[in-house]
Amino acid sequence: MLITPRNRLTLSENDVTPEAVYLSRRHFMAGAAGLGLAASFPGVTLAGPDYSEVAKAQGPQWFEDKLANTRWDAVVAEDKITPFNDATHYNNFYEFGSDKDDPAQNAGKLNTVPWSVTIDGEVANPGRYALEDIVQPSRFEERIYRLRCVEAWSMVIPWLGIPLADVIKRAGPTGNAKYVRFETLVDPKQMPGQDSRFALIDWPYEEGLRIDEAMHPLAFLAVGMYGRVLPNQNGAPLRLVVPWKYGFKSIKSIVRILLVEEQPETSWHKLAPNEYGFYANVNPEVDHPRWSQATERRLPNSLFRPNVIETQMFNGYAEQVAGLYQGMDLRKYY
Ligand code: MTE
Repeated sequence: MLITPRNRLTLSENDVTPEAVYLSRRHFMAGAAGLGLAASFPGVTLAGPDYSEVAKAQGPQWFEDKLANTRWDAVVAEDKITPFNDATHYNNFYEFGSDKDDPAQNAGKLNTVPWSVTIDGEVANPGRYALEDIVQPSRFEERIYRLRCVEAWSMVIPWLGIPLADVIKRAGPTGNAKYVRFETLVDPKQMPGQDSRFALIDWPYEEGLRIDEAMHPLAFLAVGMYGRVLPNQNGAPLRLVVPWKYGFKSIKSIVRILLVEEQPETSWHKLAPNEYGFYANVNPEVDHPRWSQATERRLPNSLFRPNVIETQMFNGYAEQVAGLYQGMDLRKYY
């Protein structure tokens, strides 16, 4: 599905919820200026990828139906969007292998329709829900976010999906819901990396957020990217996107969302607790024990064009999220 300037021109102040305005007033204004540009030069697409290069894909009918009513550019970044080909061929998804091109090669085997997600624990409405029922009540939004991996590379991806807070609110958290735990599918038949003798991860891949982080308007559940359904290697059919945290927090192919009272254990923390913390906020001042976090390689890059840029506090989202961590020692809670 192409995003044409016409789609973008349908965005008006009325389309933008107060929440989205709160999220990125400055960015919205930048987007609005860009809309003027697109209006005067109809062939120009905004700051973005050439969506005509994006591999077309037919999503499930519910996805295609909702796509038409997407709030495009709900949150935008000033950065140039990463080409689709790089975003889909340089991946971390250990369920499909540990090399960056393994997910693109192996994830095609994953059957994502039908898909259901169990939402349970400290909630008023526990159950196993069809993905389309989870997504249905919310309008799709496009959110262009920076993605900063703990390995010091980064991309800029236009996600499609819904706020995580919408799903949590509908589940009805009880007063004991202090954290949210997420789990990825376990199915070694479809996910060959789970069968590998070399896999260090104790499956399922697990991640977690504090409840206030999960309710933050920037925390997002993606079902698509680049105007189309999510490719399997990027975490189809449902993945978390937490743009101010290192990429490993953004768990893919989610089958369970559990609200709990205690801070949950998480996959990378279990593997190397001194290297990967629970919070994992992007922080150029706190190095990984084995490498600096002060800079990052913005993909695509090459030997001759290393494209190294300075890493920003909270990946550039400090204005929106720093308040969540007021008074916390970010060296201790890394
Ligand atoms: N989720 C699962 N289930 N398994 C994984 O191996 N890798 C994480 C995260 N989510 C991972 C995962 C890491 S380390 C990163 S950097 C991002 O996914 C990468 O997302 P991308 O491949 O879409 O760029």
